[in-house]
Amino acid sequence: MNAPLNVFDIFDHDQNFLTIMKRMLEAHMEASFSGVMITEAGSGYPIVYVNPALCELTGYGPHEMIGKSPAMLQGPNTDQRVLDKLKETIGDGDLFHGRTINYRKDGSEFVMEWKIVPIRNEDGEIAHYLAIQREA
Ligand SMILES: Cc1cc2nc3c(=O)[nH]c(=O)nc-3n(C[C@H](O)[C@H](O)[C@H](O)COP(=O)(O)O)c2cc1C
Repeated sequence: MNAPLNVFDIFDHDQNFLTIMKRMLEAHMEASFSGVMITEAGSGYPIVYVNPALCELTGYGPHEMIGKSPAMLQGPNTDQRVLDKLKETIGDGDLFHGRTINYRKDGSEFVMEWKIVPIRNEDGEIAHYLAIQREA
């Protein structure tokens, strides 16, 4: 028997496919060593989800971040050119990968490295962005 080509093949004959995949995704995000952030695609990219690893990295609790813009992590030494590139790249529907200085809740600086993946809805519109984040 050939190995499955991707994780979806393992469960796609299971009637509980959606439930299992949702639980897998949730388990992955909650237990991940990397930060995960999900935002809406609208102005300022309002945050809708942050995982425990991102809270640990930044010092903020989930309720301090949800509803705010990821711009809350920026400060005087954040590189505006990186942010301009981010906006252009994700606006085109492409994957962004970059790094810049960010700030923890206590004001300390660190280098954030992150990737952003545009997530399309069933109509093909970008409704959300998902970021994977870590200290570089
Ligand atoms: C999913 C996602 C995650 C982001 N994460 C970060 C981050 O970790 N650090 C950061 O400096 N900017 C991050 N940004 C970029 C800021 O949201 C953006 O620079 C800020 O909202 C200003 O955007 P504007 O130029 O459209 O006003 C992220 C953006 C998105 C969509």
